[in-house]
Amino acid sequence: MLGAIHLGVLAACFVLFVPMAMAGWHLSRNKMLFFSGALFISLAVCVHLTPYFPSVSDIVASVSSVVVYDHRISCINEVNQIVWDVKPVPNPESVRRNNGSTKLDYFVKNWDWMKSRKVLSCEFQKLDKFDVSDLLNGSWVVVAGDSQARFVALSLLNLVLGSDSKAMDSVRGDLFRRHSDYSIVVKEIGMKLDFVWAPYEKDLDDLVVSYKKMKKYPDVVIMGTGLWHMLHVNNASDFGFRLRQLSSHVESLVPLTPKEQEGGGSVSGRSVHLFWIGMPVLINGMLNTDEKKEKMSDTVWHEYDRSLGESKILRQMGGPLILLDIQSFTWNCGPQCTLDGMHYDSAVYDAAVHVMLNALLIESHQSL
Ligand SMILES: *[C@@H]1O[C@H](CO)[C@@H](O)[C@H](O)[C@H]1NC(C)=O
Ligand SMILES: *[C@@H]1O[C@H](CO)[C@@H](O)[C@H](O)[C@H]1NC(C)=O
Ligand SMILES: *[C@@H]1O[C@H](CO)[C@@H](O)[C@H](O)[C@H]1NC(C)=O
Repeated sequence: MLGAIHLGVLAACFVLFVPMAMAGWHLSRNKMLFFSGALFISLAVCVHLTPYFPSVSDIVASVSSVVVYDHRISCINEVNQIVWDVKPVPNPESVRRNNGSTKLDYFVKNWDWMKSRKVLSCEFQKLDKFDVSDLLNGSWVVVAGDSQARFVALSLLNLVLGSDSKAMDSVRGDLFRRHSDYSIVVKEIGMKLDFVWAPYEKDLDDLVVSYKKMKKYPDVVIMGTGLWHMLHVNNASDFGFRLRQLSSHVESLVPLTPKEQEGGGSVSGRSVHLFWIGMPVLINGMLNTDEKKEKMSDTVWHEYDRSLGESKILRQMGGPLILLDIQSFTWNCGPQCTLDGMHYDSAVYDAAVHVMLNALLIESHQSL
């Protein structure tokens, strides 16, 4: 049994050094004080309960790990909480003079995370090129799905390569070849990005199975479908059935064991970080064919949305994929942000990418 003095010294060390170690993870001073206080109280409780438990160190370890991780993990539920500020450009004349401008160019679109207390406490931030290079260094990223997924891939590459870089010019051309796959290696950071044209859920399913066969898994998979199925199959219960199949394949095929990182550390949980690109709001009157207007009605959209929820593929329903809530982004950006009622301004997909990266930071237990 430890003496009272030993215990006191141990407690003092914890209160002092644990928050200092955390400060190394870029916690603000207020947070540090908060953690010091929380630890102090936890330790005081521990000391009083010690006689009832076999070992002080077990309790201390469990208390500190709970304090550290609980806070950020719950932030996954808040990461999609963003608000939009869309207003007319101050100088429409200059837009008009610029050739090839569309309606989208007449609106300035800004977005940020909601300023509620809970969301603020999560300290989400838009990542710059260097943050992303750091985070995705050496990673294999796969974006798979329909045209929405393609726009997400474009936004991610914009961020990694820089939107005015020469490289981006050729990316834009190659990525938008109709209905085809695309692959690029960003040498500077050893990141590989694959875009896989996979307009149906079955295509996504096949992709997951193929990784299993190769025994080689990407680090990040961002996928999303729905619109093709809605237009060409138009059967929400079939959509739900396909999603359940995809979900169960993801659950059974993608390994859960900790995986060694390049840096030497290991990450617990699923070794692949998985995201689902939600369906955009469809503005029926703006859809560009009669077939679309008829098949992609609000009623059908809601049936598809319900099937997505019931498929339990999303984390919020207990499934494996974290939602990038395109529905909320497109609804809040509004009709000013789309030309065809289906594909939206790049600002929407940029937001989705920043949401994904913030979730990835939390999931991989990293901070900037
Ligand atoms: C717009 O197009 C016209 C003729 O096509 C050209 O003379 C002019 O330089 C272009 N302006 C800009 C800003 O690109
Ligand atoms: C990427 O990681 C490698 C190896 O860990 C390191 O040498 C390199 O500087 C990193 N590059 C960037 C851009 O962070
Ligand atoms: C819709 O899909 C379900 C499940 O695949 C199937 O049982 C049903 O017959 C389909 N409905 C129609 C109208 O095709």
